[in-house]
Amino acid sequence: MARIALLTGGIGGIGTAICVRLARSGHTLVANCHPSEIATAESWQQARAAEGLMIPVIAADVASFADCARMVREIDERFGPVDVLVNCAGITRDKTFKKMEPAQWEAVIDVNLNGVFNVTRQVWEGMLERGFGRIINISSVNGQRGQFGQADYSAAKASMQGFTMSLAQEGAAKGVTVNTVSPGYIETAMTLAMDEGIRNSIISGIPMRRMGRPEEVAAAVAFLASDESAYITGANIQVNGGLFMH
Ligand code: CAA
Repeated sequence: MARIALLTGGIGGIGTAICVRLARSGHTLVANCHPSEIATAESWQQARAAEGLMIPVIAADVASFADCARMVREIDERFGPVDVLVNCAGITRDKTFKKMEPAQWEAVIDVNLNGVFNVTRQVWEGMLERGFGRIINISSVNGQRGQFGQADYSAAKASMQGFTMSLAQEGAAKGVTVNTVSPGYIETAMTLAMDEGIRNSIISGIPMRRMGRPEEVAAAVAFLASDESAYITGANIQVNGGLFMH
C-alpha cells in the first residue's frame, strides 16, 4: 500500500521538487502550505496536474500547534496516518543582529523551529505504534556554519539537528528514523531574493561554483524516505556543493 507522506512548505521551491519526487516514487502525498498561500496553491496544483500528479494541498500554519493538530486529523480522516513527514516550511528575515527586532526573531523561530515540534508531535506516537516512520527535517548549511545576517535563521536551523538526534534515539528501536538534510544555496525564490552582488559572491565561494537545484535536495530526501535508508538515523546529509564539509 502506498505510504502517506506529509510535506510542510510543500509548494515552495525545494518543497515542490520533493513533492514531485515522492509522488513519482509511489507515495500518497499531501502538501501543506501557509493559509496565506491558498491562491498560489491552486495554480500550483494545476501545474502538478499538468505533469500528471494529483497532489492535495492542506493549508495550516506550522507555527500554530492547534492548526497542525487540525491538519493531521484531516489527513488521518481523508487518507490515513502519516508514514513520512518532511519538515520543509521555512522563512528568512535576514538582518544584521544590531537591527534585528524581537518580532523578526520570533517569526523565524516560530516557523523554522517551533513548526518542527508542532507538526512532528502530531504524527510521532502513531509512527511508534505502527513500527514505521520517516521524519526528515530540512535544515540549512547556515545552521552548520552560521551566516552574516542570519542569527535567527542559523539558530533555528542548527537546533533542528539536536532535535533530529534526540528523536532518532527515541525512534530507533521502533522502526522510526529521523534525519536532517542540510541544503546549501539552492535555486529558489528565497535565494533569488538576495542582493545579486551578495549572491554572486556566495556562489564564487562554493567549490562547485554554482547553486544547487531543488531536485538535488529532493533526491536525498527520497532516499531517506525509502526502505533502503532503514539503518540511517540521526544523520545530517549535506547537499551543498562542497560549501561546508563536516
Ligand atoms: N561579512 C562581513 N561583512 C559583511 C558581510 C559578510 N558576509 N556581508 C555584508 N557585510 C557588511 C557590508 O559590507 C556592510 O558594511 P558597512 O556597514 O561597513 O557598509 C554591512 O555588513 C551591511 O550592513 P547593513 O546594516 O546594511 O545590513 P542589513 O542589516 O541591512 O543586512 C543582509 C544585510 C540583508 C543581511 C545582507 O548582508 C545579506 O543579504 N546577506 C546574506 C544573507 C544570506 O546569506 N541569506 C541567505 C538567504 S537564502 C537561505 O537562507 C537559504 C539557505 O538556507 C542557504
